Amino acid sequence: MSLADSSKAEIYLDINRVTSPISPLLFSGFLEHMGRAIYEGIYDPSSPHADANGLRTDVLALLREVNYRAMRYPGGNFLSGYRWLDGVGPRDQRPRRRDLAWQTLETNQFGTNEFIEFCRAINTEPMLAVNMGTGTIQDAANLVEYCNAPIGTQYADLRAAHGYPDPHQVKYWCVGNEMDGPWQIGHLEAPEYGAKAREAAKMMRWHDPSIKLVLCGSSSTGMPTYPEWDRIALEMCWEQVDYHSMHYYATNRENDTASYLALAAEFESFVDTLTGVLRYVKAKNRSKRDVFLSWDEWNVWYKATRPEVDFRGDWKEAPHLSEEVYNLEDALVVAQWLNVFLRHTDVLKIACVAQAVNTISPIHTTRDRVLKHTTYYPIMLFSKLASGTALDVAVKSPHYQTQKFGDMPVLDVSASYDESTRAGAIFIVNRSQSENVPVELHWQDRAPWKIAAVHQMSGSDPKAFNSLENPGEIVPIMITPPTIEDGCAQMLLPPLSFTALEMCL
Ligand code: AHR
Repeated sequence: MSLADSSKAEIYLDINRVTSPISPLLFSGFLEHMGRAIYEGIYDPSSPHADANGLRTDVLALLREVNYRAMRYPGGNFLSGYRWLDGVGPRDQRPRRRDLAWQTLETNQFGTNEFIEFCRAINTEPMLAVNMGTGTIQDAANLVEYCNAPIGTQYADLRAAHGYPDPHQVKYWCVGNEMDGPWQIGHLEAPEYGAKAREAAKMMRWHDPSIKLVLCGSSSTGMPTYPEWDRIALEMCWEQVDYHSMHYYATNRENDTASYLALAAEFESFVDTLTGVLRYVKAKNRSKRDVFLSWDEWNVWYKATRPEVDFRGDWKEAPHLSEEVYNLEDALVVAQWLNVFLRHTDVLKIACVAQAVNTISPIHTTRDRVLKHTTYYPIMLFSKLASGTALDVAVKSPHYQTQKFGDMPVLDVSASYDESTRAGAIFIVNRSQSENVPVELHWQDRAPWKIAAVHQMSGSDPKAFNSLENPGEIVPIMITPPTIEDGCAQMLLPPLSFTALEMCL
């Protein structure tokens, strides 16, 4: 790949030119009863690393390092056949069931209360989902009562009898999962889903008016019903919900790395389209309130997607399903996804990496070890460094040709500034596979007094990955920060790289 124009790049920043505050919930995760995400992932009483509750302390340490602000649970496709009462109460009385979504044996040894304990252990906000497939609106309302009502009525008393007299105070609730998908247990057409979700939402909020609800949106831009599904469901539920969900899994099936590295264009257009739908429905419904976007399943997922192997658990407990191994190009796509989140903070308020452990995840476990895949690092760096407000960055970049998206800028950039700490961050992906790109950073208002640190991931092989034998193949290194002169700093960005700069202003 050669650059259409080999000139340098320029990035213009101004701490007064902001998009909007960054919602910390943009750095959230997702855990489903799928494969080894729960069992052998976060929960494994037989592990040498298990704590008194059976949670794996080595996994908890990594999840704390990433600092996921919320965790969505228990699915996913699993949700649409899940009976939440199976997963509460004495463990020896919980049923073993066939999970039809992943054809797995579900022991129910981990359920709602264990999930809440897990969330407290890693200081994350629980984001529970209610079953809109086989579940009724009554089941959904009962779960809100079980979790959030003070004792004195049936389901709150049941919670107390299970050892939790105080309400769990779960704030975020998803009303179903991917109900637009024919693969979903109990799949519904948009008008049927809209009617069911609206009634479920009413009952859930009558139990606890403080909860925030997420409506199911399209499960991908490739769905034939996209974006009509979104418009119909939103028109029917606008006054009852707070967020509208987006799901998307990125692929490089054609092995076209140049196009794959430009996928941010697709992410951006997904957000733009749904932003348009939100504006349209708000106007059409003559509403005064806003609904925001929750990208509550996002990740790269295409290598481990053979239906006969990666989707079928053969009715086994915790089978190895969809254990995607991530490489350098995947990490660069993930970094751009996070750039897109920062460029759309006005409308995007929640985003959950799917998933948190083992299944399509940046973290992989064996019985006694954990491995950080390449994608772990951009997720952790954004979560740690991006706070305050997102900046509206102006970028002049050389371009390159892609088959899927035509002419694309070589650099993909976002930035943040936090007035409370006077710290800022700039995140830059160099999509070129062969060219170093010289870049000038210009501060148009107050320049940082120093660039405190520069983290950089790069490599010559886009397919390079980390393994248990070689866990340090693709990890960020600290490079010497550039100096600032007259409000400008200069750097050379290597090909296939992700760079995160920390600034002190
Ligand atoms: O995250 C894996 C699966 O992808 C989820 O169960 C489903 O919601 C999506 O199709």
